[in-house]
Amino acid sequence: MKILAIESSCDETAAAVVENGWDVLSNEIGTSVEEHKKTGGIVPEVAARDAEKKVFPVVEAALKTAKCTFEDIDAIAVTAGPGLMGSLLVGVESARMLAYIHKKPLIPVHHITGHICANRLTRKRKIDFPALVLTVSGGHNDIILWKNDFEFERIGYSIDDAAGEAFDKGARMLGLGFPGGPAIEKASKVGVEDAFKFPRPMLNKDDDFRFSFSGLKTSLLYKIEELGGREEMEESIKNDLAASFQEAIVDTLAGKLFQALNEYRDIKEVHVTGGVSANQRLRHKIFERTEKMHMGFYFPEKMAFCTDNAAMIAGAAYWKYTNEPETNWAWQSVSPRIEKEFF
Ligand code: KG4
Ligand code: ZN
Repeated sequence: MKILAIESSCDETAAAVVENGWDVLSNEIGTSVEEHKKTGGIVPEVAARDAEKKVFPVVEAALKTAKCTFEDIDAIAVTAGPGLMGSLLVGVESARMLAYIHKKPLIPVHHITGHICANRLTRKRKIDFPALVLTVSGGHNDIILWKNDFEFERIGYSIDDAAGEAFDKGARMLGLGFPGGPAIEKASKVGVEDAFKFPRPMLNKDDDFRFSFSGLKTSLLYKIEELGGREEMEESIKNDLAASFQEAIVDTLAGKLFQALNEYRDIKEVHVTGGVSANQRLRHKIFERTEKMHMGFYFPEKMAFCTDNAAMIAGAAYWKYTNEPETNWAWQSVSPRIEKEFF
């Protein structure tokens, strides 16, 4: 079954064709990163206008790379939410129109289920359920029980910011650029991770899988002020601050993940996904502990599947479609949704 998917929940506009949930025939992305570098963060209106320009060119490119026409496509999928309303509207309305014109089923996909199913792309292996998943990106920070091909339960979430947001804001405070995650990771490689002490929020509560990152951001701000501001700051101090800040984030993420693993004893494998799963330090911290436990640990096969992409949406759509044979996949029933809780 070949699915064409559109993803435009935030600042990227992407389209992909995936066969049977894992064979990636194409994965195209129109990025607005240069626009957003100018503002040092995402401006919703700019992201939506950019998506409008890019959506049909990326769909065309995805079909071309996959050597497909609409006749070869069995269904269309789209990120229905959560995300920025303007960007979501562009993707959803485009997908509704294509499904209507070409008379295809339309499968709405929750963005986070896309990130989770990214871990199946190109990897033809069965998941040993139940799995425990840390989904961590700019807008989301959850711990999810992955119970079956398309059955999920959220057991942890952030009460304020996501870790990716903390990376982005931290990088902005240090003047390291956008997006912040890769910038902080790069600076951390030449910095000392215990040069400064930052809090590991909520880690003292081992039966509560909620995160909080806003206080950590404030600690970085105070530390920069205490050191006289970033303008006069030596490069090596900035690198040490970046490394110490990254260490606090990854310690908190990994710590909570293992607290959850300790509580849910029947877990068979551990996954991390979403933009922040590209972070090598986070992967290393989780791998160190899962290896000792002889527990399988997985992250997206390619870096391009960590951050927002449409292949993950086409992948998730396949598992959703095959899991819900009774659903009527009419284009009329799909609309954008911004609440995080629906799956
Ligand atoms: O999944 P994603 O593309 O978009 C959302 O769904 O939010 O994630 C983007 C986030 C950004 O906050 C970015 O700074 C972060 O992922 N990110 C990283 C790395 N690469 C991207 N964070 C830490 N280390 C990285 N290497
Ligand atoms: Zn995402």
